[in-house]
Amino acid sequence: MADTPETSTPDTGAAAAESPRTPILSVRDLRAAYRGGDGMIPAVRGVSFDLYPGEVLALVGESASGKSSVAHATLGLLPSNAEVSGSIMYEGRSLLDLKGDERRQVRGGEIAMIFQDAMAGLTPTLRIGEQVAELFLAHERLDAKAARAAAIEALRPLLPDAERIVDAYPFQLSGGMAQRVMVAMATALRPKIVIADEPTANLDPAVRLETLTWLEELRDRGTAVLLITHDFGVVARLADRVLVMYGGVVAEEADVFTIFRRPRHPYTYGLLSSLPSVMSGARLTPMRGNPPDLATLGEECAFLERCPKAISQCRTLPSPPLVAPEATPGSDVPVAPGHRVACFNPMVVDLRETR
Ligand SMILES: Nc1ncnc2c1ncn2[C@@H]1O[C@H](COP(=O)(O)OP(=O)(O)OP(=O)(O)O)[C@@H](O)[C@H]1O
Ligand code: SF4
Ligand SMILES: [Mg+2]
Repeated sequence: MADTPETSTPDTGAAAAESPRTPILSVRDLRAAYRGGDGMIPAVRGVSFDLYPGEVLALVGESASGKSSVAHATLGLLPSNAEVSGSIMYEGRSLLDLKGDERRQVRGGEIAMIFQDAMAGLTPTLRIGEQVAELFLAHERLDAKAARAAAIEALRPLLPDAERIVDAYPFQLSGGMAQRVMVAMATALRPKIVIADEPTANLDPAVRLETLTWLEELRDRGTAVLLITHDFGVVARLADRVLVMYGGVVAEEADVFTIFRRPRHPYTYGLLSSLPSVMSGARLTPMRGNPPDLATLGEECAFLERCPKAISQCRTLPSPPLVAPEATPGSDVPVAPGHRVACFNPMVVDLRETR
């Protein structure tokens, strides 16, 4: 690894996992399915994880693995054709059961979201100032004049000409400016959790770097960040822990160092094997096949059709549970605390040694 500072192995040691701290968000057996013309599409099929104050938990995986569905379910933003079950506990409150004022207070105030498409996250018919001021009207009960002043102050660190921007409509902004507005809105009320869904996708390098720096500052102030990304450079730079999702389930969970250096799930290994920054000096191997069709997935491991490590059990038993991998006899590859993998035949690799 170590081609560029951003994609080098995060050299933190097997740190954060198995923390004695209390999680700020606990998700258990989350399931979300969308009703479609051909029946239900089970996008999230029993996802569990904890998020701790001041940590960045990255959610990675190919397109359609269910990452945004987890994020939207957490904030109660799933569309009306979705059915959701399981438990999402935030500071002792069940987010799936929140209603009315309490729900509004939590959503946007205590838990904020940076959407995958910044422009789509803004209301096209409202001026930027109105949209930002609405946060202060709703959550801090300021009057209109004070809310507008607060909106300008919230925008100013990211957009120095905030006085002008507040009177603009979203279509008058560039993609980078819309992204900055979105970040300002997400952080205006000092939320305890920020869910950032592909916050750096489609951004030019300067805005991308700015956004990463903002996320780092948030984390350093104690905000917990659930970071959804395809970009392993961003994972290496920001994440403390990583959940790898595949076909609506968590395939692997570990601290970021372990994921990059000692992945156990063949899917995680497959993702890393196509990254020059991880496999420098070794042969790059693009992963074969495509993500599964969720509508027709059976009980077996979702990765079966693409897996180079499949054994007979994988074809005959239901999908394996997410558990700590066993130490491998004769191998000196250690098992990190908090490492969990859903696989009958996990890999035993040390990527530092493959280079
Ligand atoms: N509103 C919806 N109605 C029907 N199906 C949906 C809806 N939203 C998502 N899906 C389906 O749910 C599955 C998971 O989608 P989701 O957006 O959560 O994936 P993702 O991991 O965020 O993907 P990406 O990386 O492309 O953003 C996909 O098969 C998608 O087509
Ligand atoms: S359970 Fe079997 S098919 Fe699934 S990832 Fe592991 S080895 Fe591959
Ligand atoms: Mg998504």
